[in-house]
Amino acid sequence: MVSISEFVAHVPQSVQWALAGVGALFVGGKVLSYLQLLLNLFVLSGVNLRKYGKKGTWAVVTGASDGLGKEFATQLASKGFNVVLVSRTHSKLDALAQELEKKYTGVQTKVLAMDYSKDNDEDYQRLSQLISGLDIGILINNVGQSHSIPVPFLETSDDEMKNIVTINCFGTLKTTKIVAPILVQRKKGLILTVGSFAGWMPTPLLATYSGSKAFLQHWSSSLAEELKPQGVDVELILSYLVTTAMSKVRRSSAMIPNPKQWVRSALGRIGQRGNQQMAYTVTPYWSHALLAWWVENTIGAGSPLAIWYNKVIHVDIRKRAIRKAEREAKKA
Ligand SMILES: NC(=O)c1ccc[n+]([C@@H]2O[C@H](COP(=O)([O-])OP(=O)(O)OC[C@H]3O[C@@H](n4cnc5c(N)ncnc54)[C@H](OP(=O)(O)O)[C@@H]3O)[C@@H](O)[C@H]2O)c1
Repeated sequence: MVSISEFVAHVPQSVQWALAGVGALFVGGKVLSYLQLLLNLFVLSGVNLRKYGKKGTWAVVTGASDGLGKEFATQLASKGFNVVLVSRTHSKLDALAQELEKKYTGVQTKVLAMDYSKDNDEDYQRLSQLISGLDIGILINNVGQSHSIPVPFLETSDDEMKNIVTINCFGTLKTTKIVAPILVQRKKGLILTVGSFAGWMPTPLLATYSGSKAFLQHWSSSLAEELKPQGVDVELILSYLVTTAMSKVRRSSAMIPNPKQWVRSALGRIGQRGNQQMAYTVTPYWSHALLAWWVENTIGAGSPLAIWYNKVIHVDIRKRAIRKAEREAKKA
Protein backbone atom coordinates (compact mmCIF):
# COMPACT_ATOMS: atom_id res chain seq x y z
CA MET A 1 0.00 0.00 0.00
CA VAL A 2 1.48 3.41 -1.08
CA SER A 3 1.05 6.22 1.46
CA ILE A 4 0.00 9.71 0.33
CA SER A 5 3.44 11.16 1.15
CA GLU A 6 5.17 8.40 -0.92
CA PHE A 7 2.78 9.08 -3.79
CA VAL A 8 3.44 12.85 -3.64
CA ALA A 9 7.20 12.21 -3.54
CA HIS A 10 6.91 10.45 -6.90
CA VAL A 11 5.08 13.39 -8.53
CA PRO A 12 7.61 15.57 -10.41
CA GLN A 13 8.47 18.84 -8.62
CA SER A 14 7.19 20.96 -11.53
CA VAL A 15 3.79 19.25 -11.39
CA GLN A 16 3.65 19.77 -7.61
CA TRP A 17 4.32 23.51 -8.06
CA ALA A 18 1.71 23.76 -10.82
CA LEU A 19 -0.92 22.02 -8.65
CA ALA A 20 -0.06 24.21 -5.64
CA GLY A 21 -0.41 27.29 -7.89
CA VAL A 22 -3.86 26.20 -9.10
CA GLY A 23 -4.92 25.53 -5.49
CA ALA A 24 -3.64 28.92 -4.34
CA LEU A 25 -5.48 30.68 -7.19
CA PHE A 26 -8.70 28.84 -6.31
CA VAL A 27 -8.51 29.62 -2.59
CA GLY A 28 -7.33 33.19 -3.28
CA GLY A 29 -10.30 33.73 -5.62
CA LYS A 30 -12.74 32.55 -2.94
CA VAL A 31 -11.12 34.74 -0.27
CA LEU A 32 -11.25 37.79 -2.57
CA SER A 33 -14.88 37.12 -3.44
CA TYR A 34 -15.80 36.86 0.25
CA LEU A 35 -13.90 40.05 1.06
CA GLN A 36 -15.68 41.84 -1.78
CA LEU A 37 -19.01 40.63 -0.38
CA LEU A 38 -18.16 41.90 3.12
CA LEU A 39 -17.02 45.24 1.68
CA ASN A 40 -20.27 45.56 -0.28
CA LEU A 41 -22.43 44.64 2.69
CA PHE A 42 -20.74 46.59 5.46
CA VAL A 43 -18.61 49.35 3.93
CA LEU A 44 -19.56 50.44 0.41
CA SER A 45 -22.89 51.85 -0.65
CA GLY A 46 -24.70 51.35 -3.93
CA VAL A 47 -25.64 53.79 -6.69
CA ASN A 48 -27.21 57.03 -5.45
CA LEU A 49 -30.88 57.11 -6.48
CA ARG A 50 -30.44 60.70 -7.69
CA LYS A 51 -28.75 59.13 -10.71
CA TYR A 52 -32.25 58.29 -11.91
CA GLY A 53 -33.78 61.71 -11.45
CA LYS A 54 -34.02 64.79 -9.28
CA LYS A 55 -36.71 65.29 -6.62
CA GLY A 56 -40.13 65.16 -8.23
CA THR A 57 -39.19 62.37 -10.65
CA TRP A 58 -41.79 59.60 -10.65
CA ALA A 59 -41.38 55.99 -9.50
CA VAL A 60 -43.88 53.26 -10.34
CA VAL A 61 -44.33 50.58 -7.67
CA THR A 62 -46.44 47.46 -8.23
CA GLY A 63 -47.94 45.54 -5.32
CA ALA A 64 -47.66 48.86 -3.51
CA SER A 65 -50.42 48.61 -0.91
CA ASP A 66 -48.73 46.19 1.48
CA GLY A 67 -45.49 44.50 2.51
CA LEU A 68 -42.35 45.27 0.55
CA GLY A 69 -44.15 47.34 -2.12
CA LYS A 70 -45.64 49.68 0.49
CA GLU A 71 -42.20 50.11 2.00
CA PHE A 72 -40.58 50.77 -1.40
CA ALA A 73 -43.21 53.46 -2.05
CA THR A 74 -42.65 54.98 1.39
CA GLN A 75 -38.85 55.05 1.20
CA LEU A 76 -38.88 56.42 -2.36
CA ALA A 77 -41.35 59.15 -1.31
CA SER A 78 -39.10 59.97 1.64
CA LYS A 79 -36.31 60.60 -0.88
CA GLY A 80 -38.50 63.02 -2.83
CA PHE A 81 -39.76 60.75 -5.60
CA ASN A 82 -43.41 61.05 -6.63
CA VAL A 83 -45.01 57.62 -6.70
CA VAL A 84 -47.49 55.75 -8.88
CA LEU A 85 -49.00 53.09 -6.63
CA VAL A 86 -50.42 50.01 -8.34
CA SER A 87 -52.09 47.04 -6.67
CA ARG A 88 -55.39 45.31 -6.09
CA THR A 89 -57.23 47.15 -3.32
CA HIS A 90 -58.32 50.73 -4.02
CA SER A 91 -59.00 51.65 -0.39
CA LYS A 92 -55.51 50.58 0.72
CA LEU A 93 -53.92 52.50 -2.15
CA ASP A 94 -55.89 55.67 -1.35
CA ALA A 95 -54.95 55.45 2.32
CA LEU A 96 -51.25 55.04 1.47
CA ALA A 97 -51.36 57.87 -1.09
CA GLN A 98 -52.85 60.25 1.49
CA GLU A 99 -50.35 59.15 4.13
CA LEU A 100 -47.37 59.76 1.82
CA GLU A 101 -48.58 63.15 0.59
CA LYS A 102 -49.19 64.28 4.17
CA LYS A 103 -45.89 62.98 5.53
CA TYR A 104 -43.59 64.07 2.70
CA THR A 105 -44.34 67.64 1.70
CA GLY A 106 -44.41 68.19 -2.05
CA VAL A 107 -44.60 64.50 -2.94
CA GLN A 108 -47.34 63.65 -5.43
CA THR A 109 -49.04 60.28 -5.87
CA LYS A 110 -51.25 58.53 -8.39
CA VAL A 111 -53.05 55.27 -7.74
CA LEU A 112 -54.29 52.46 -9.94
CA ALA A 113 -56.27 49.51 -8.61
CA MET A 114 -55.90 46.52 -10.88
CA ASP A 115 -55.92 42.80 -10.29
CA TYR A 116 -52.92 41.38 -12.14
CA SER A 117 -54.39 37.88 -11.99
CA LYS A 118 -57.16 38.97 -14.40
CA ASP A 119 -54.63 39.84 -17.13
CA ASN A 120 -57.08 42.43 -18.38
CA ASP A 121 -55.90 44.54 -21.36
CA GLU A 122 -58.05 47.46 -20.18
CA ASP A 123 -56.11 47.57 -16.89
CA TYR A 124 -52.83 47.85 -18.77
CA GLN A 125 -54.34 50.59 -20.97
CA ARG A 126 -55.37 52.46 -17.81
CA LEU A 127 -51.81 52.14 -16.50
CA SER A 128 -50.47 53.45 -19.80
CA GLN A 129 -52.84 56.46 -19.69
CA LEU A 130 -52.10 57.16 -16.03
CA ILE A 131 -48.35 57.46 -16.57
CA SER A 132 -48.49 59.15 -19.96
CA GLY A 133 -46.42 62.34 -19.88
CA LEU A 134 -44.85 61.63 -16.47
CA ASP A 135 -41.10 61.87 -16.01
CA ILE A 136 -40.58 58.33 -14.72
CA GLY A 137 -37.13 57.32 -13.46
CA ILE A 138 -37.78 54.13 -11.50
CA LEU A 139 -39.92 51.03 -11.88
CA ILE A 140 -40.20 48.59 -8.97
CA ASN A 141 -41.61 45.28 -10.20
CA ASN A 142 -42.66 44.00 -6.82
CA VAL A 143 -46.09 42.43 -7.31
CA GLY A 144 -46.06 38.70 -6.71
CA GLN A 145 -48.02 35.76 -5.41
CA SER A 146 -46.85 32.50 -3.89
CA HIS A 147 -48.70 29.30 -2.97
CA SER A 148 -51.04 29.71 0.00
CA ILE A 149 -49.11 26.89 1.71
CA PRO A 150 -46.38 24.57 0.34
CA VAL A 151 -48.12 22.01 -1.86
CA PRO A 152 -46.95 19.17 -4.12
CA PHE A 153 -47.11 20.29 -7.74
CA LEU A 154 -49.60 17.56 -8.69
CA GLU A 155 -52.00 18.80 -6.00
CA THR A 156 -51.66 22.50 -6.91
CA SER A 157 -55.04 23.92 -7.99
CA ASP A 158 -55.25 25.18 -11.55
CA ASP A 159 -56.34 28.59 -10.27
CA GLU A 160 -53.32 28.98 -7.99
CA MET A 161 -50.96 27.79 -10.72
CA LYS A 162 -52.43 30.21 -13.28
CA ASN A 163 -52.49 33.17 -10.90
CA ILE A 164 -48.86 32.74 -9.89
CA VAL A 165 -47.66 32.65 -13.48
CA THR A 166 -50.01 35.43 -14.63
CA ILE A 167 -49.13 37.82 -11.79
CA ASN A 168 -45.42 37.10 -11.33
CA CYS A 169 -44.45 36.62 -14.97
CA PHE A 170 -46.97 38.28 -17.33
CA GLY A 171 -47.75 41.08 -14.87
CA THR A 172 -44.08 41.98 -14.58
CA LEU A 173 -43.40 41.71 -18.31
CA LYS A 174 -46.44 43.72 -19.37
CA THR A 175 -45.87 46.46 -16.80
CA THR A 176 -42.23 46.73 -17.87
CA LYS A 177 -43.24 46.97 -21.54
CA ILE A 178 -45.39 49.96 -20.68
CA VAL A 179 -42.97 51.77 -18.36
CA ALA A 180 -39.52 50.94 -19.78
CA PRO A 181 -39.92 52.94 -23.05
CA ILE A 182 -40.21 56.11 -20.93
CA LEU A 183 -36.91 55.28 -19.18
CA VAL A 184 -35.25 54.53 -22.50
CA GLN A 185 -36.50 57.80 -23.98
CA ARG A 186 -35.01 59.87 -21.12
CA LYS A 187 -31.81 57.75 -21.36
CA LYS A 188 -31.68 57.01 -17.64
CA GLY A 189 -33.68 54.86 -15.31
CA LEU A 190 -33.82 51.91 -12.99
CA ILE A 191 -35.90 48.74 -13.17
CA LEU A 192 -35.79 46.66 -9.99
CA THR A 193 -37.57 43.31 -10.02
CA VAL A 194 -38.15 41.45 -6.77
CA GLY A 195 -36.97 37.86 -7.13
CA SER A 196 -36.76 35.25 -4.40
CA PHE A 197 -34.46 32.61 -2.96
CA ALA A 198 -37.15 30.22 -4.24
CA GLY A 199 -36.13 31.22 -7.77
CA TRP A 200 -32.43 30.97 -7.00
CA MET A 201 -32.67 27.49 -5.44
CA PRO A 202 -35.24 25.04 -6.85
CA THR A 203 -37.92 24.73 -4.18
CA PRO A 204 -39.99 21.53 -3.99
CA LEU A 205 -43.59 22.10 -2.85
CA LEU A 206 -43.39 25.68 -4.16
CA ALA A 207 -42.56 24.45 -7.65
CA THR A 208 -44.70 26.90 -9.64
CA TYR A 209 -43.64 29.92 -7.56
CA SER A 210 -40.02 28.75 -7.75
CA GLY A 211 -40.26 28.44 -11.53
CA SER A 212 -41.91 31.85 -11.90
CA LYS A 213 -39.13 33.56 -9.97
CA ALA A 214 -36.43 31.64 -11.89
CA PHE A 215 -38.12 32.88 -15.07
CA LEU A 216 -37.80 36.46 -13.79
CA GLN A 217 -34.10 35.85 -13.07
CA HIS A 218 -33.20 35.09 -16.68
CA TRP A 219 -35.65 37.61 -18.08
CA SER A 220 -34.26 40.40 -15.87
CA SER A 221 -30.58 39.67 -16.56
CA SER A 222 -31.28 39.46 -20.31
CA LEU A 223 -33.16 42.76 -20.25
CA ALA A 224 -30.34 44.31 -18.23
CA GLU A 225 -27.85 43.60 -21.00
CA GLU A 226 -30.29 44.90 -23.64
CA LEU A 227 -31.04 48.19 -21.88
CA LYS A 228 -27.57 48.95 -20.51
CA PRO A 229 -26.42 50.84 -23.63
CA GLN A 230 -29.59 52.93 -23.39
CA GLY A 231 -28.79 54.15 -19.89
CA VAL A 232 -31.29 51.98 -18.03
CA ASP A 233 -30.08 49.86 -15.10
CA VAL A 234 -32.02 46.62 -14.66
CA GLU A 235 -31.53 44.47 -11.60
CA LEU A 236 -33.08 41.46 -9.91
CA ILE A 237 -33.06 41.59 -6.12
CA LEU A 238 -33.10 38.31 -4.25
CA SER A 239 -34.52 37.70 -0.84
CA TYR A 240 -35.03 35.00 1.73
CA LEU A 241 -37.96 35.54 4.13
CA VAL A 242 -39.11 39.00 5.22
CA THR A 243 -41.90 39.61 7.76
CA THR A 244 -44.91 40.28 5.49
CA ALA A 245 -48.37 38.85 4.92
CA MET A 246 -46.95 36.63 2.19
CA SER A 247 -44.29 34.98 4.35
CA LYS A 248 -46.73 34.73 7.31
CA VAL A 249 -43.71 35.32 9.58
CA ARG A 250 -44.52 37.95 12.20
CA ARG A 251 -41.38 38.23 14.32
CA SER A 252 -38.20 39.58 12.73
CA SER A 253 -34.77 38.11 13.45
CA ALA A 254 -31.24 38.26 12.08
CA MET A 255 -32.28 35.99 9.18
CA ILE A 256 -35.77 37.47 8.69
CA PRO A 257 -35.78 41.28 8.52
CA ASN A 258 -38.86 43.48 8.52
CA PRO A 259 -39.84 45.28 5.27
CA LYS A 260 -38.26 48.56 6.41
CA GLN A 261 -34.85 46.92 6.99
CA TRP A 262 -35.03 44.89 3.79
CA VAL A 263 -36.09 47.74 1.49
CA ARG A 264 -33.47 50.06 3.01
CA SER A 265 -30.80 47.53 2.07
CA ALA A 266 -32.34 46.97 -1.40
CA LEU A 267 -32.35 50.70 -2.22
CA GLY A 268 -28.89 51.14 -0.68
CA ARG A 269 -27.11 48.41 -2.65
CA ILE A 270 -28.16 49.11 -6.22
CA GLY A 271 -25.47 48.24 -8.72
CA GLN A 272 -23.37 46.16 -6.33
CA ARG A 273 -22.00 42.83 -7.41
CA GLY A 274 -20.23 40.23 -5.43
CA ASN A 275 -21.92 37.12 -4.22
CA GLN A 276 -24.23 36.15 -7.04
CA GLN A 277 -23.15 33.94 -9.87
CA MET A 278 -25.71 35.65 -12.11
CA ALA A 279 -24.99 39.13 -13.46
CA TYR A 280 -27.28 42.07 -12.70
CA THR A 281 -28.48 40.34 -9.52
CA VAL A 282 -28.06 41.45 -5.93
CA THR A 283 -28.96 39.88 -2.60
CA PRO A 284 -29.19 43.10 -0.62
CA TYR A 285 -29.87 42.00 2.96
CA TRP A 286 -26.65 41.11 4.79
CA SER A 287 -27.65 37.79 6.36
CA HIS A 288 -29.34 36.61 3.14
CA ALA A 289 -26.22 37.55 1.16
CA LEU A 290 -23.90 35.66 3.53
CA LEU A 291 -26.14 32.58 3.36
CA ALA A 292 -26.23 32.74 -0.45
CA TRP A 293 -22.44 33.08 -0.66
CA TRP A 294 -21.82 30.06 1.56
CA VAL A 295 -24.35 27.90 -0.28
CA GLU A 296 -23.00 28.90 -3.69
CA ASN A 297 -19.41 28.30 -2.61
CA THR A 298 -19.99 24.98 -0.87
CA ILE A 299 -22.81 22.63 -1.90
CA GLY A 300 -24.15 24.86 -4.72
CA ALA A 301 -27.69 26.29 -4.97
CA GLY A 302 -28.76 23.79 -7.60
CA SER A 303 -27.14 20.67 -6.14
CA PRO A 304 -29.17 17.55 -5.32
CA LEU A 305 -28.27 18.00 -1.65
CA ALA A 306 -29.55 21.60 -1.59
CA ILE A 307 -32.80 20.68 -3.34
CA TRP A 308 -33.35 17.64 -1.09
CA TYR A 309 -32.81 19.74 2.05
CA ASN A 310 -35.13 22.45 0.70
CA LYS A 311 -37.77 19.75 0.24
CA VAL A 312 -37.35 18.56 3.85
CA ILE A 313 -37.91 22.15 5.05
CA HIS A 314 -41.03 22.66 2.93
CA VAL A 315 -42.55 19.28 3.80
CA ASP A 316 -42.25 20.35 7.43
CA ILE A 317 -43.77 23.81 6.75
CA ARG A 318 -46.68 22.12 4.94
CA LYS A 319 -47.32 19.75 7.86
CA ARG A 320 -47.35 22.64 10.33
CA ALA A 321 -49.63 24.74 8.06
CA ILE A 322 -52.11 21.87 7.75
CA ARG A 323 -52.11 21.28 11.51
CA LYS A 324 -52.71 25.02 12.09
CA ALA A 325 -55.62 25.04 9.59
CA GLU A 326 -57.13 22.01 11.37
CA ARG A 327 -56.83 23.72 14.77
CA GLU A 328 -58.51 26.86 13.40
CA ALA A 329 -61.28 24.81 11.77
CA LYS A 330 -62.02 23.16 15.15
CA LYS A 331 -62.19 26.57 16.88
CA ALA A 332 -64.66 27.95 14.30
N1 LIG B 1 -42.10 38.27 2.03
C1 LIG B 1 -41.15 37.43 1.72
O1 LIG B 1 -40.67 36.66 2.55
C2 LIG B 1 -40.60 37.39 0.31
C3 LIG B 1 -39.44 36.68 0.06
C4 LIG B 1 -38.92 36.66 -1.23
C5 LIG B 1 -39.55 37.36 -2.23
N2 LIG B 1 -40.71 38.04 -1.97
C6 LIG B 1 -41.36 38.76 -3.07
O2 LIG B 1 -41.59 40.08 -2.67
C7 LIG B 1 -42.70 40.62 -3.38
C8 LIG B 1 -43.64 41.30 -2.41
O3 LIG B 1 -44.11 40.34 -1.49
P1 LIG B 1 -44.68 40.73 -0.05
O4 LIG B 1 -44.14 39.74 0.88
O5 LIG B 1 -44.49 42.18 0.20
O6 LIG B 1 -46.23 40.41 -0.27
P2 LIG B 1 -47.51 40.97 0.49
O7 LIG B 1 -47.16 41.57 1.80
O8 LIG B 1 -48.51 39.87 0.44
O9 LIG B 1 -48.00 42.17 -0.46
C9 LIG B 1 -48.36 41.90 -1.77
C10 LIG B 1 -48.75 43.17 -2.49
O10 LIG B 1 -49.07 42.80 -3.83
C11 LIG B 1 -50.42 43.13 -4.10
N3 LIG B 1 -51.05 42.08 -4.88
C12 LIG B 1 -51.15 40.78 -4.59
N4 LIG B 1 -51.82 40.14 -5.56
C13 LIG B 1 -52.15 41.07 -6.47
C14 LIG B 1 -52.87 41.03 -7.68
N5 LIG B 1 -53.40 39.92 -8.14
N6 LIG B 1 -53.01 42.20 -8.37
C15 LIG B 1 -52.51 43.36 -7.90
N7 LIG B 1 -51.84 43.44 -6.75
C16 LIG B 1 -51.66 42.32 -6.04
C17 LIG B 1 -51.09 43.23 -2.76
O11 LIG B 1 -52.22 44.07 -2.92
P3 LIG B 1 -53.45 44.05 -1.88
O12 LIG B 1 -52.91 44.68 -0.65
O13 LIG B 1 -54.48 44.87 -2.50
O14 LIG B 1 -53.82 42.60 -1.69
C18 LIG B 1 -49.98 43.82 -1.92
O15 LIG B 1 -49.89 45.22 -2.12
C19 LIG B 1 -43.31 39.44 -4.14
O16 LIG B 1 -42.89 39.49 -5.47
C20 LIG B 1 -42.72 38.23 -3.44
O17 LIG B 1 -42.67 37.13 -4.29
C21 LIG B 1 -41.24 38.08 -0.72
